[in-house]
Amino acid sequence: MDSILVTGNGPLNGQIPIAGAKNACLTLMPATLLSEEPLTLTNAPRLSDIKTMTQLLQSLGAEVSSLQDGQVIAMSSHDLTSQTADYEIVRKMRASNLVLGPLLARFGQAVVSLPGGCAIGARPMDLHVEGLEALGADIELSDGYLHAKAPGGLKGAVHEMRFASVGATENIVMAATLAKGTTVLKNAAREPEIVDLVECLRKMGAQISGEGTSTIEIQGVDRLHGATHQVVTDRIELGTYMLAPAICGGEVELLGGRMSLVESFAAKLDAAGVSVTETEKGLKVARKNGRVASVDVVTEPFPGFPTDLQAQMMALMCTAEGTSVLEERIFENRFMHAPELVRMGANIEVHGGTATVTGVNQLKGAPVMATDLRASVSLILAGLAAEGETTVSRVYHLDRGYEHVVRKLEGVGAKIERIKGQ
Ligand code: EPZ
Repeated sequence: MDSILVTGNGPLNGQIPIAGAKNACLTLMPATLLSEEPLTLTNAPRLSDIKTMTQLLQSLGAEVSSLQDGQVIAMSSHDLTSQTADYEIVRKMRASNLVLGPLLARFGQAVVSLPGGCAIGARPMDLHVEGLEALGADIELSDGYLHAKAPGGLKGAVHEMRFASVGATENIVMAATLAKGTTVLKNAAREPEIVDLVECLRKMGAQISGEGTSTIEIQGVDRLHGATHQVVTDRIELGTYMLAPAICGGEVELLGGRMSLVESFAAKLDAAGVSVTETEKGLKVARKNGRVASVDVVTEPFPGFPTDLQAQMMALMCTAEGTSVLEERIFENRFMHAPELVRMGANIEVHGGTATVTGVNQLKGAPVMATDLRASVSLILAGLAAEGETTVSRVYHLDRGYEHVVRKLEGVGAKIERIKGQ
């Protein structure tokens, strides 16, 4: 297994291009299942999760071609041969469950493996099931698979989700586009990736309004046609790299970044003493003075502070002046980066869903292990600011969500290299 060697090397300066959003692409790709006509995505990120979704769609009989070095994904699901998403693929990537709604809507049936737990939590699908059952689906769990049927087609309904689940919102909205009648989804998730999905579905002929608010209304139509759609900028990659100059000093411009994607995160950085300003090319980030100040963080559904930036923010708080309390309210086990940061000299106490971080003057490089996607990049950020060398092992986690991370950080002066595993 490869590892990444990072050596603290002082302030970072320059530009980092931000790619298309992994979590938008992973819901846009299954949308091809809703139509017989081709769906093409541009500005797609080059990530292993995208390859996994490609394999899944191909296992269903869809044609999926990756063009222009992976930045364009051309898909057609005119002749599907299966409606079963196999455990072998779903267990690797939970987002595979986003084929459930589209398959059910187009074919009236779907068999999708439950994803099983992952490092950050149990990640059940009860909210997905409740929403699709509200649209008239009959869903049974047996041998680890959800067996969903809607022989007479789905019917629009008014449904309020118990929690604003991103994936459940995506599955329900995609299913409702082909249901008979009107669906009103209440307590819907408001993430930019959902707004991007709806914009793509609208290009395909869907009748949807309210995206980005807690109530989304969908008028079902008989069929959807093909489209071409540009994947929205990745706000989590953006936020991650905004932290690089925050933790190291210097000034970095994130190309393609937009303040609207990271409003609550940028506000937290501002309170910590990091300036974020919009330029015509993106966002420029720099520390306002020597050392950042501790701030408290609570993770919430969008537009609150994103759970996917909690690990990275913790790395910054490890070097801040004072004590910060980070409360993780979305996932039940998302502090696995904490003990690794402690190996680097951080002062962190975890009690349940709360981590108390007391900043230290200097982190020290050490061998550390990536445990999940966002933890892996949190350790790289810490390594950029640490004295000496940090080796991050198990970087296959990183490859799921960050394209060309070594090249992008080298480009702003970081001392970082990928070490091929034996
Ligand atoms: C999406 O996951 C993202 N993944 C996650 O990003 C992100 O952390 C999460 O939303 C929250 O923003 C993709 O978009 C591919 P949820 P999702 O359904 O849809 C519980 C990353 O690092 N829940 O909003 O799975 C669930 O257990 C990944 O890129 C139920 O209880 O998130 C969790 O505690 C990690 N029942 C909470 O809700 C359900 O049926 C949030 O889950 C569904 C979810």
